[in-house]
Amino acid sequence: MKVLGIATSPRKGANSQTLVEHILAGAKEAGAKTELVRLCDLEILPCTGCGSCKSGNGCVIEDDMAGLCEKMAAADAVVVGSPLYWSRLNAQAYPFIDRLYALIKPDFTTDFPKGKKIVFAMTSGGMGAEAVTPMNDYVKFVFGFLGFSDAGFIWQNNCMQPKDLAKFPEKIRKANELGKSLVKK
Ligand SMILES: Cc1cc2nc3c(=O)[nH]c(=O)nc-3n(C[C@H](O)[C@H](O)[C@H](O)COP(=O)(O)O)c2cc1C
Repeated sequence: MKVLGIATSPRKGANSQTLVEHILAGAKEAGAKTELVRLCDLEILPCTGCGSCKSGNGCVIEDDMAGLCEKMAAADAVVVGSPLYWSRLNAQAYPFIDRLYALIKPDFTTDFPKGKKIVFAMTSGGMGAEAVTPMNDYVKFVFGFLGFSDAGFIWQNNCMQPKDLAKFPEKIRKANELGKSLVKK
């Protein structure tokens, strides 16, 4: 069992990354191998819409996306963690999401390995569920195209300062349990 965490926030070691880390810690305690990747440590360029991937020739952009897709293909579960920016994901998340399009064939099926789980973790400053729930739906929609099944959603509000998540031990406990559940399920 391998669980890959993908943290999208530009703030290293801040709330959404830490929420992912607590999920990974739970998975590790339950016996999984875990790895955390920060998108901001990688070069992932925006999709240019060139259509190469829909001509059967794959993505022509040479950057770190192919390596990240290999990590996803080798994982049994992926945990994406993001901050809420203006009621959407942060900018660095979108080149990654757009480039997943290259994994979809012209007939909108995919050869990406099946049977994987997706968890979405989000932190925000002060918005209610009406802003955050659509982000979970969106991430699950995208990963659903790749055959991932929904394995959970966790969110903590009132996380403005980088280490504010520490003020919410019950949510940290739930993140740990969520990580463990990935291995049990
Ligand atoms: C550009 C920007 C836009 C933001 N927009 C929102 C927002 O629309 N709603 C909200 O509740 N918090 C908003 N926030 C606060 C972040 O969602 C919050 O601080 C989050 O926990 C940051 O995650 P991080 O600590 O992992 O970077 C925004 C922060 C920034 C920097």
